[in-house]
Amino acid sequence: MSELSGEAGTDTFDTRVSPGYAAAVRATRAAPDRTAMGQARLDELVRLATLAPNSHNTQPWTFQVLGPDRLAIRPDARRRCPVVDPDDHHLFVSLGCVAETLAIAATGYGMDASVSWRENTDGLPCAEVTLKDTGCAASPLIQAIRSRQSTRSLYDGGLLSAEQRRALRQAAEGGATTLHLVEDAETKTQLRDLIVAANTTQLRDRDFVRELRDWIRFSEASALQSRDGLFARATGSPTLPDWIGRLIFPLVLRPAGESRKIASQIESSAALAVFISRDDTPKSWFRTGRAFQRVALAATKHGLKHAHLNQPVERSEYHSDLGRVVGACAGRPSLVIRLGRAVDMPYALRRDLHSVLDTSG
Ligand SMILES: Cc1cc2nc3c(=O)[nH]c(=O)nc-3n(C[C@H](O)[C@H](O)[C@H](O)COP(=O)(O)O)c2cc1C
Repeated sequence: MSELSGEAGTDTFDTRVSPGYAAAVRATRAAPDRTAMGQARLDELVRLATLAPNSHNTQPWTFQVLGPDRLAIRPDARRRCPVVDPDDHHLFVSLGCVAETLAIAATGYGMDASVSWRENTDGLPCAEVTLKDTGCAASPLIQAIRSRQSTRSLYDGGLLSAEQRRALRQAAEGGATTLHLVEDAETKTQLRDLIVAANTTQLRDRDFVRELRDWIRFSEASALQSRDGLFARATGSPTLPDWIGRLIFPLVLRPAGESRKIASQIESSAALAVFISRDDTPKSWFRTGRAFQRVALAATKHGLKHAHLNQPVERSEYHSDLGRVVGACAGRPSLVIRLGRAVDMPYALRRDLHSVLDTSG
């Protein structure tokens, strides 16, 4: 089960952070116990699953143990973001990311995970995972679970190799989601203009800025305390005392500066990836999350970083233009990602197991 241990160089996790923060990241992203059995094995799978990407690092999930090899993954409605995500689209994409990560992590223990979708008449839908010891081979994506991160820095401007392109396309297959990989300058420019326009609309919305500010952890102390949210250093900003950060955030987040930043980020990227969900339903968004996480892990495995530019997805008035630019005549635009090569940024933390795991069932 050596597949579960980290790739060379990823076990330090100490990029530009204090020793205390680095220790917390190391604990969060530790190599799993390969000998774990029963509940201890489920614990390891849940910990690895929570390393999945998720909107604003809200970690909007709970895991309920339903039996020795069965888990429910439920959305945590207390962690909704009603302004940026009024229909819970991002929440269900995040749930798909976490379910897919769990399924991939399970293969490291020789287990197949069957993931099913449950509509609930008395609440939000959820996913159920049934694990079976089949002695299956570990997924080739497993090594990337611990080292994947959203990297919001500039990339090195290089192009995708044929092998990277093939790996990304292959990872997206098999779901109800279409991946549009955009590498030509003209389409990238059209997407840039849409992203910039949608971003400007968002920054003019005070509620949006307030909600975003509430999920930013301006200091290491607050990131370490909550173990969720967007750690300033991981977004490329300096750390600040929280009260100063909260005060100046709306003043420094200006449309002109942000537009320039987005343009340089796109310019430096090898490709943009637009994910279109087949249907505009929570189930379809969930499936897109699963496909996106496979692509993010494949990118990581093949030496590529990724970061989100979801602004035109988050404002419904841009959906039809976004679909048109990539030639999608149907479906719901779900994610816009940039891909390219860069060095690691500081890692985001995750909450402890006891905050997300319910073993009472
Ligand atoms: C559905 C979804 C939407 C996201 N939207 C954005 C976004 O608009 N901007 C951004 O910088 N990151 C975005 N992210 C990335 C998350 O902020 C990131 O996954 C989270 O902070 C955890 O960090 P990590 O991916 O480095 O582990 C999104 C992730 C998901 C799954």
